[in-house]
Amino acid sequence: MAVVGLGTMGAGIAEVFARAGIGVVALEADAEALRRGVGILDASLSRAVSRGRLAAHEQAAIRSRVRPAEAFSDAAAVDLAIEVVPERLELKRQVFAELDRVCSPAAILATNTSSLSVTAIAATTKHPGRVIGMHFFNPAPVMRLVEVVSTVLTADGVAAAVSDLARRLGKSPVQVSDRAGFVANALLLPYLNHAVRLLETGYASREDIDLAATAGIGLPMGPLALLDLIGLDTALSIMEVLHSEFGGPRYTAAPLLRRLVDAGRTGRKSGRGIYDYADASADKTHSNGNMAASAAPDTVTLIGSGDDAEADLATALATAGINVTRNPAHPTDLILIAAAAGRPVLAAALATGRPDQAVGLHMAGGLAEVVQTSLSSGQAVASALALASRLGHSAVRAVDRPGFLVGALLYPHLADAVRMVQDDYASPADIDTAMTLGCGYPHGPFQLLDSVGPAAVLASLESMHTAYGDSSFAPPPLLAEHAAAGIAFGAGSEPVGAGSASAGSAAASSAS
Ligand code: 3HC
Repeated sequence: MAVVGLGTMGAGIAEVFARAGIGVVALEADAEALRRGVGILDASLSRAVSRGRLAAHEQAAIRSRVRPAEAFSDAAAVDLAIEVVPERLELKRQVFAELDRVCSPAAILATNTSSLSVTAIAATTKHPGRVIGMHFFNPAPVMRLVEVVSTVLTADGVAAAVSDLARRLGKSPVQVSDRAGFVANALLLPYLNHAVRLLETGYASREDIDLAATAGIGLPMGPLALLDLIGLDTALSIMEVLHSEFGGPRYTAAPLLRRLVDAGRTGRKSGRGIYDYADASADKTHSNGNMAASAAPDTVTLIGSGDDAEADLATALATAGINVTRNPAHPTDLILIAAAAGRPVLAAALATGRPDQAVGLHMAGGLAEVVQTSLSSGQAVASALALASRLGHSAVRAVDRPGFLVGALLYPHLADAVRMVQDDYASPADIDTAMTLGCGYPHGPFQLLDSVGPAAVLASLESMHTAYGDSSFAPPPLLAEHAAAGIAFGAGSEPVGAGSASAGSAAASSAS
């Protein structure tokens, strides 16, 4: 086979094929690009060796299967060529014209495009029936999903052959049709872009946004760190394609994303994106600095509404040896309001008569969201952060707005997934498979949604929609129907909202 373009993805794809015993012609435009691309491959293999995951002789064997090349004519004898060049239709068409010229008509020509129309690429080739999308996920050697994208022009048998090949590579193919972003990127990118918007509007810090996703939702990476992995330029290209196909604010690229790309801050590959990778030690920790600012309070006034969240908090405070009163007239170091979705912290804070000393605390799994109102003092917020640490929780600062931070990130993402089902584009099971195998989600969006409960997600989205008037947050009718009927989306259709599966326990508690 041949890989055309040895950037992060191309080098990863070359590695996947070579590891499966298949000879790879690795094509790049010039010697310098080829040297860089082979460097990416070598670094990945060396890392596997140093982690004890690959023997040195296997590394040598894999490497010997990869033949670096600069001329398309070197790919004349391949059975499959995969194009992995930057997301520009004209560039891709040029590559396909060259492949058309040199490859046998029996060879399959695939594109790894993230979002461009495979049909538009195929239509200008000599044999559009053998053109198909074969979309891998970053890091290609690790992520199991391959989206196999057929077009109306794809000949019978090509998708099945590519799916069989993907299985031979140890991957899990899913067949998708040619729609912008296919399944996974059409869901992932608007969520990542929304995270950038939260950052640029000062809604939360970059570290808190990422911690909300990892500790609060259970995802393997925060959205901003993931953007740096994918490449901000790639992400921007995908957003532009999604916007041109679907329109609307949810698909409008965040201005900060565009500015960072303009500035050359494209992510890990350029050494700097949303995070700075020049100082390796700083990158790995991504500390949000929320822990050390203040001493934990000795005395706390606890205000709640008699629900489980308040009872759990009371128990945790007592266990930590903190004196708790329920009377706001008693002087204490901090007023803690057991925060819940749909109940603004500010109203409870005002009722205490000491709103400057009051903050909300909302648990999302093991993550504490310290909810600051516009009257909370910096001292009160710092004290609550220290308290969360003393109770053994990671903590983020959240503003007193619908969804706080975890919900503000997650619920619009879940609504996008429901819209995809509503539009009859993919089933809940397909979507969960795509996001677990392609993006490492421990639980797919519908498992998360069912464990929170459609009614709770609906209520938060309605509050967000009312607060901002942004159509991105308008709940899809299908969600409202499931909420009204009390039915889950998942195949098992268990009762909803009871945390019925272990799936999404973090997010489930974020709705309470
Ligand atoms: N290349 C090769 N292997 C890599 C790698 C890389 N760049 N990064 C990590 N790995 C391997 C490691 O060697 C390790 O393998 P081992 O268990 O055999 O030793 C394994 O992956 C786990 O790595 P780490 O322990 O270093 O790190 P984590 O446990 O934190 O996992 C991660 C890293 C796999 C990247 C995980 O954080 C994850 O799943 N993140 C989500 C990634 C994601 O969402 N990808 C999809 C992006 S969208 C996309 O690509 C589509 C495109 O069109 C934009």
